[in-house]
Amino acid sequence: MNTNEYSQWFRGSTPYISAHRGKTFVVFIGGDSLEHLNITNIVHDLALLHVLGVRLVLVHGGRPQLDNALTDSVMHNQRRVTRAQDMNIINGVYGQLCSQLEGLFSTGLPNTPLHNVEISVVAGNFVTARPIGVLDGVDHLFTGRMRNVDTQKVTTFLDAESIVLISPMGYSPSGQAFNLAAEELAADVSVALQADKLIMLDELSHLLNANGERESTVTPTSLQILIGNDQDISHTTRARLDTMIQAVRGGVKKAHIISFKEDGGLLQELFTAEGVGTQVLEESTGPVRAAKREDVSDIVEIIRPLEEAGILVRRSRDRLEQEIEHFLVAELDGIVVGCCAIYPVEDEAELACVAVHEHYRRRGSGVAIGANLLRAAEDKARNYGAMSLFALTTQAQDWFIDQGFATADVSALPNSKQSLYNWQRGSKVVAKSLH
Ligand SMILES: CC(C)(COP(=O)(O)OP(=O)(O)OC[C@H]1O[C@@H](n2cnc3c(N)ncnc32)[C@H](O)[C@@H]1OP(=O)(O)O)[C@@H](O)C(=O)NCCC(=O)NCCS
Repeated sequence: MNTNEYSQWFRGSTPYISAHRGKTFVVFIGGDSLEHLNITNIVHDLALLHVLGVRLVLVHGGRPQLDNALTDSVMHNQRRVTRAQDMNIINGVYGQLCSQLEGLFSTGLPNTPLHNVEISVVAGNFVTARPIGVLDGVDHLFTGRMRNVDTQKVTTFLDAESIVLISPMGYSPSGQAFNLAAEELAADVSVALQADKLIMLDELSHLLNANGERESTVTPTSLQILIGNDQDISHTTRARLDTMIQAVRGGVKKAHIISFKEDGGLLQELFTAEGVGTQVLEESTGPVRAAKREDVSDIVEIIRPLEEAGILVRRSRDRLEQEIEHFLVAELDGIVVGCCAIYPVEDEAELACVAVHEHYRRRGSGVAIGANLLRAAEDKARNYGAMSLFALTTQAQDWFIDQGFATADVSALPNSKQSLYNWQRGSKVVAKSLH
């Protein structure tokens, strides 16, 4: 890079410098990254982020190092079954990796970017854990999952301008230590902190689309499809991508996958418009539109499990095709993720078959697909000239009430509907005035 290019690059990075200041990034540094020669450069780049005011929480892994130290480990579905006698060795390996990282942040030699920069790295017992338990009949013993992270303590250290370093170890309230999957821990910590970014360092530098081009930005849904279609992605990378999806669906604004092999990859991804890795972010709203015949298969996929569970009344494919003009569908990333049907009944309208694909139902965060469908359904009912909208529900009465409906008596239903009411099913009636 000549001087001119350098100044241009530096100027171009200005908006990103202010955008990242004060933001919380959780960075996953796996055991594979720690073994790679580029780790020194990565630490220097992390130090630069810190100096620029980014609040950093680092979660390190140590899988290859544990594989070397525990040659007789039992693995189940790529997850280690941690025996009591392994814990001392695991403690030793994590301790060593932790101090390797702390050491790298402390190198202040005149020929390094950290010369004259003092960085405090704080490692501690921030995480409580629970046993992961028995999976497919295999007791995972001392392998655990994060139960809680002390966000207050972490925030206090971040406020004091320290970098927080977390090892994949958690403790139960009785003091028992558990060995945790580091990528899962990084995702869980990022969700608990509602971090601005989760950054996964991996051997993969970015994802490719079907034409072999880099995907710089994907949504969780399109990432799921990409992973499903790409047989070449290693199991380790796949697990990391899965945790990125979980993190974004859990409310983390963006997750990035960046190569640990590429010198400067982290800085290029964070400080240039084009980036070098792949970022995952959720679409903020999903459009609701009139359903088309081609949507029938997607609708069937969403409602069949609910019909089988007795939550929705069964509708044949033929009936769906005949009634498609009454249906609305909600889309996310171009995929049908929810549906509902509106039928005019005398001077009212019936709302039926309200369903959101189970992966997209909102659990505290994310896009309110059900509520979006309902708003569009009310508009459609008004277009029919309906005075009110009613629904019969066995499981979602409270949800309708949260959405402004009131419970009503069967006798309040239009006459033609009353005569068809199935007393055995015993659905609750909810209604909402459209005035
Ligand atoms: C009911 C349903 C359509 C809501 O979809 P959704 O996308 O999750 O809804 P929204 O995002 O608009 O609202 C989510 C909120 O509703 C709550 N909720 C979801 N289903 C609920 C239910 N059955 N009862 C009570 N509350 C419910 C969620 O806990 C969440 O609350 P929060 O904001 O406090 O976290 C969806 O849960 C679904 O498909 N359920 C199965 C089918 C069904 O029961 N349909 C109604 C029969 S007609």
